Amino acid sequence: MKIVKVKDYDEMSRYAADYLVKRIAELDKPVLGLATGSTPEGLYEELIKKYKEGKVSFKNVTTFNLDEYVGLDKNDPNSYHFYMMEKLFNHVDITKENVNLPNGVAPDLQKECQEYEQRIQKVGKIDVQLLGMGMNGHIGFNEPGTPFTQRTHVVELDESTRKANSRFFASLDDVPKQAITMGIGTIMESKEILLIVSGESKADAVARLLDKEEVSEDFPASILRNHDNVTVVVDEAALSKT
Ligand code: GLP
Repeated sequence: MKIVKVKDYDEMSRYAADYLVKRIAELDKPVLGLATGSTPEGLYEELIKKYKEGKVSFKNVTTFNLDEYVGLDKNDPNSYHFYMMEKLFNHVDITKENVNLPNGVAPDLQKECQEYEQRIQKVGKIDVQLLGMGMNGHIGFNEPGTPFTQRTHVVELDESTRKANSRFFASLDDVPKQAITMGIGTIMESKEILLIVSGESKADAVARLLDKEEVSEDFPASILRNHDNVTVVVDEAALSKT
């Protein structure tokens, strides 16, 4: 893993945006894996800025998001679909047909998972997969204990994850109990992975990731050590316990 130490959230966001802009320019038909949560918000703002300055175009870009809550329709303000439209896609020149997110209200969730995998296979491989990391080391919504071989699947969310994400909802009871997520098997097939981490609340997780905790399903992000092209952009606060 290549570790890039940055000062703070803004520097992390700018670094990650420059990184993606460079890749988008280099690749013929870039396929990006995208993440949600608070961590990438600044990065998406930077990408919009760069688009408006004419420094990047998303015309040839295809995206696959990591995950979506089960039971939330794409028009629900708490769905990841809505988040992506609001925070990035509505502001850039991406072709909406090239945008892919799991459908959290699909009548047959298993089928939806299989079809999502097939859509990824159809374009080949994800060129750059952006990741955030949960406090328990989850990536996407792959909670501790998820087999590393698993592909896109339905997960039961950890209580700790529901609590952490309840800040976006009216109450904890409103946070869905399930989600669809790309599996770790899917994520690990990406050609390149960009993990961004910021803030003191992630310091324990960063220490576990960097201070040589064994690669174990108990700490999902540890699998990234087995991937040969991972860049971790991490700020000082998140590094405070290493
Ligand atoms: C969420 C998302 C993940 C995200 C992580 C961290 O639950 N499913 O994709 O990376 O948890 O979120 P945040 O960036 O808000 O800390």
